[in-house]
Amino acid sequence: MDVKELFSLKGKIIVVTGGSGQYGKCLVEGLAEAGGTVITTSRDIQSAEKTAALFREKGLDVHPMEVDQGDTESVSRFAKSLQDKFGKLHVFVNNAVSRPMKGYNAPLADFDESMRVNATGMWDLLKSMSDLIIGSGGGAVINISSMMGMKGPDLTNYEGTSMGDLPPDYFFHNAGLINLTRFMAKMNSGKNIRFNCISPGGLFNNQPERFVENYNKKVPMKRMANNDDIKGLAVLLASDAGAYINGENILMDGGLNA
Ligand SMILES: NC(=O)c1ccc[n+]([C@@H]2O[C@H](COP(=O)([O-])OP(=O)(O)OC[C@H]3O[C@@H](n4cnc5c(N)ncnc54)[C@H](O)[C@@H]3O)[C@@H](O)[C@H]2O)c1
Repeated sequence: MDVKELFSLKGKIIVVTGGSGQYGKCLVEGLAEAGGTVITTSRDIQSAEKTAALFREKGLDVHPMEVDQGDTESVSRFAKSLQDKFGKLHVFVNNAVSRPMKGYNAPLADFDESMRVNATGMWDLLKSMSDLIIGSGGGAVINISSMMGMKGPDLTNYEGTSMGDLPPDYFFHNAGLINLTRFMAKMNSGKNIRFNCISPGGLFNNQPERFVENYNKKVPMKRMANNDDIKGLAVLLASDAGAYINGENILMDGGLNA
């Protein structure tokens, strides 16, 4: 097949959770620019509609839908309406994250709440979307983890800032997601579905100057990730160009952890 055809997402139905968030918007845009029909989801439909409208103005095929991954009834409703509206699913991008835990000494209840959404709820939605992809004849799942799921924190990044009080839940569930990716790839052997994971570094989002300075010093590329950096990797893993990549975790950090 021609390489441009291999990378094309034309005719593919794609769901991106947390599509109104920082990395979510980049993923929705990149996958739609590659020709996909992208469903951007949020907990509240207004937020998803705003994001979809932004990209539709640019001529991209983006549709809003509502799902709260911490609520199993919402997950079931979403799976049903997705099927009713689009008939099938080819790609699921598992990107949403809830951040209820604000620091090392945060209450245990905040850790519990994080697991409710980022572990139990995430699994509920991942399983449901994977089943839908398998029922549609096959496709791909892309889990979005973090370099923080692969390494302990580099506290020197936070020197001179008030950002160094890091929550443990984020390191825990992101690390779990990387191995869950491998588990899913093996468990779904023979079903024409691939599971891969992207572990990005920090996305530039006007963080405090001192943090950006500390961080950039250590990155061989001398910058944080920009809005385009994740697009190509997501398209590769979603498309036939990535047809033989399965069970993999790809670190995308500009060489920071090399
Ligand atoms: N931003 C970064 O610098 C960075 C770096 C590395 C990895 N990541 C990873 O990228 C992914 C997205 O992170 P982000 O920084 O863009 O997050 P974000 O906070 O900007 O967006 C997350 C989205 O998830 C949604 N969400 C929260 N709870 C939800 C629920 N119960 N149901 C449905 N949606 C819910 C939020 O509304 C939000 O739109 C995460 O997996 C994160 O670990 C981000």
